[in-house]
Amino acid sequence: MSMSETFQNRMRDLYQSFIKFDALQSNRIQRYRNIEPDSALFLAMQIRMQQSKSVLEIGTSTGYSTLWLANAVQISSGRITTLEIDPARTQQAQQYAQELELDGVIDFWVGDAQAFLESDEQQYDFILLDAERDAYIDYWPYLQKLLHPQHGVIFVDNVISHAGEVKQFIEIVKSDARFMTMTLSIGAGLFMICYK
Ligand SMILES: C[S@@+](CC[C@H](N)C(=O)[O-])C[C@H]1O[C@@H](n2cnc3c(N)ncnc32)[C@H](O)[C@@H]1O
Repeated sequence: MSMSETFQNRMRDLYQSFIKFDALQSNRIQRYRNIEPDSALFLAMQIRMQQSKSVLEIGTSTGYSTLWLANAVQISSGRITTLEIDPARTQQAQQYAQELELDGVIDFWVGDAQAFLESDEQQYDFILLDAERDAYIDYWPYLQKLLHPQHGVIFVDNVISHAGEVKQFIEIVKSDARFMTMTLSIGAGLFMICYK
C-alpha cells in the first residue's frame, strides 16, 4: 500500500479516538501519549527518503507512530521492530496493523525495552525513541551499538515539550564528539542523532 487516502483517513480517525481516550485519563501512565501527526508524517518522510530497511521503535503504545513508520517502510521494502511493555497496547496496535494490511512488515515485541536492547545484535538504519524518558541514559550505550555507523539515525521525541526530563540525556549525547545532533521544532520536539 502506498500512502493512500484510506490510510490517511483511518489514521486521522484513530488519532482522534486516541486523543479522546487520553483526555479522559487522569493518570499520565494510562494515557496512550501518541506522537503528534506532524512528527509522524515527518518521520515517515525520513524513512521514504532514506529508504530505510531496518527500523526500530521504542514505545509502540497503540501503534499510531508504528503504523506511519510501517507504511513508509513497506514502500522502502524494509521492516520495523517495535517494543512495548504493555501487552494490551501491543494487541491493539496489532489489530490496526492487520486492518491496514501493514502487519506483514511489523515485528511486535512485548517486554522491557532494556532487555531487548541488551540482547539485540542487529544494526538499524532508523530508530525512534519514544518511551519513558528516565530510561534513555541507560538505553544510550545499546543504542550506539545498534545504530548503523554510516547512515543510521535516531530520533528522540518530546525534547521540547519535556526538555527538563531529557536534559541530562541530551547533554551526554551532545558532549560525545562522535555524534552530530540537531533539535527540530516539529510536534513536541525531535532530537536527531547520527554518527559523524
Ligand atoms: C509515548 S508512548 C509511545 C507512543 C507511540 N510511539 C505513538 O506515537 O503512538 C510510550 C510507550 O512506552 C511504553 N513503555 C514504557 N516503558 C517501557 C519499557 N521499559 N519498555 C517498553 N515500553 C515501555 C509505554 O507503555 C507507552 O505505551
